[in-house]
Amino acid sequence: MAIAYRGKTEIEGIRRAGRVVMEVLAVLRAAVRPGVTTSELNALAERELKARGAISNFKGYRPERGVPPYPAVLCVSVDDEVLHGIPGRRVLREGEIVALDMGAVVDGWHGDSAITVPVGQIAADAQRLLDITQEALRRGIAAAHPGARVLDISRAIQTYVEGQGCAIVRHYGGHGIGRALHEDPFVPNYIERGQANSLLRPGMVMCVEPMVIAGAAATRELPDRWTVVTADGSRSAHFEHTIAITHGDPDILTTA
Ligand code: MF3
Ligand code: CO
Repeated sequence: MAIAYRGKTEIEGIRRAGRVVMEVLAVLRAAVRPGVTTSELNALAERELKARGAISNFKGYRPERGVPPYPAVLCVSVDDEVLHGIPGRRVLREGEIVALDMGAVVDGWHGDSAITVPVGQIAADAQRLLDITQEALRRGIAAAHPGARVLDISRAIQTYVEGQGCAIVRHYGGHGIGRALHEDPFVPNYIERGQANSLLRPGMVMCVEPMVIAGAAATRELPDRWTVVTADGSRSAHFEHTIAITHGDPDILTTA
């Protein structure tokens, strides 16, 4: 699939989807507290999406044959869960950190964002992981200037995160977005030999989404074929924005 370059009107379409995502994430953030179940958060997200005339790009999503379609509108990944946690009966407990990852489609345009929030009071090292991951996203976005390349985003994220003594999740990463949830290019959060390295040009729209682990980088997938957890049981955090490359500073499309 070729990289798409969007015009002004198209970018405004993606921004409308991005605004819905951020409004709903704000509602979810306010609902996170000890005693809430992850499926309650999903039900709330489903209601809030509907109230805004948006549809989910997560529910029913199927990355490849043999993987069951994703069953919810929201990914809820708690503590050592890295991403794609499926909402269910799990009850949130004081001190946990919870990644909320959600997308929305408005008039055929897709938006996608993730935040990680504390459940009640959290330990200093958990807060530090949240701060590092959010700063990694900020630095990755700051590197997204026209004339730079995808791997400049990856390098900015990796250098910062590893410099803080944390690890970057492999294999999963950011992606182009627009008419579909996942478009070209892939936007890795680390550098590896042989990776594609597209030039960043105005009109490209992509998700930047560092996933950071407090311990070692290794992850594994649970038998549900979706939930990814850290191999060493340490905590993981995730922040994501949908951005457009402009002639100047990157334009964050997932803002409320
Ligand atoms: N936000 C994630 C991503 O960008 C989640 C998509 S997978 C889904 O890839 F199944 F939950 F939709
Ligand atoms: Co994404």
